[in-house]
Amino acid sequence: MSIKDNYLTLADGNQMPQEGFGLYKVDGQQTMNDAIQNAYNDGYRLFDTAQLYGNEDAVGTAFKQLDIPRDQIFVTTKVAEENQGYDKAIASVKESLKKLQMDYVDLLLVHWPIERSFFETWQAFEDMKKEGLTKSIGVSNFEMIHLQYLATQANEMPVVDQVELHPLLTQKPLLKFNQEHHIITQAWSPLGRGAVLGEDVLKEIAAAHGKSTAQVILRWHLQCGVSFIPKSVHEARIAQNADIYDFKLSSAEMEKINALNKYQRTGDEPELVYEYNQQY
Ligand code: A2P
Repeated sequence: MSIKDNYLTLADGNQMPQEGFGLYKVDGQQTMNDAIQNAYNDGYRLFDTAQLYGNEDAVGTAFKQLDIPRDQIFVTTKVAEENQGYDKAIASVKESLKKLQMDYVDLLLVHWPIERSFFETWQAFEDMKKEGLTKSIGVSNFEMIHLQYLATQANEMPVVDQVELHPLLTQKPLLKFNQEHHIITQAWSPLGRGAVLGEDVLKEIAAAHGKSTAQVILRWHLQCGVSFIPKSVHEARIAQNADIYDFKLSSAEMEKINALNKYQRTGDEPELVYEYNQQY
């Protein structure tokens, strides 16, 4: 198995690469082109952007300039809080597609749960899928309570829930809930924005396998069965993060990594974003 042929099947029947490439904070056309070219050469096929990242146009231009065929890639974007609501969400996705120079995205996510327009936004997502603007629909930063609430009115449930997930925030109850409801959990900040790379436990495991601590963390995600989208703008790290398919962590090593959990977030608390109707 390699990054290039490792796909998960979503509840709607579509296939999604398990490991993808995060584009948060990848800015500037040249940096974008280099990062996407390196990632594509290394076998990454999933590219994850968002309206909030402000780089959808650079992403679209990169794919065009690099001559990467549309059917070879899986593209995710996310609707920002200010664009939630039925009409606004649809208008904003049409704008995103223009910037991305694409007719459709593979996966469209609600970026954060907010109280305002909670159900209207999801209705728009269901309709956009029917219209072909996206192949699959999902959410990001939804906790169990948000998914349960959504289920009271949704005709179709999200197939992906992209959340902050790394060894300092293992989210085991949410993972279990998502699994039971056929929702693929996808980890953003899979490396904890670097906060976890220096942990002694990880260094020991890395040394035993002749790998880096980043590779050990990504392998842990892989074996947990979640999807994950590491980000780097450095060629060697992009390659390293894809090179995790030639070793295996033992169950004892998996348990040691699970035990690093400290409920520690690097990003916002979804419950508060929901209440305030915005990131804070
Ligand atoms: P850079 O882009 O300068 O390489 P996360 O995906 O958890 O948000 O973490 C991303 C951060 O980790 C970025 O700051 C990225 O920096 C850094 N990073 C990505 N891959 C590696 C790696 N293999 N080793 C060390 N740092 C990495």
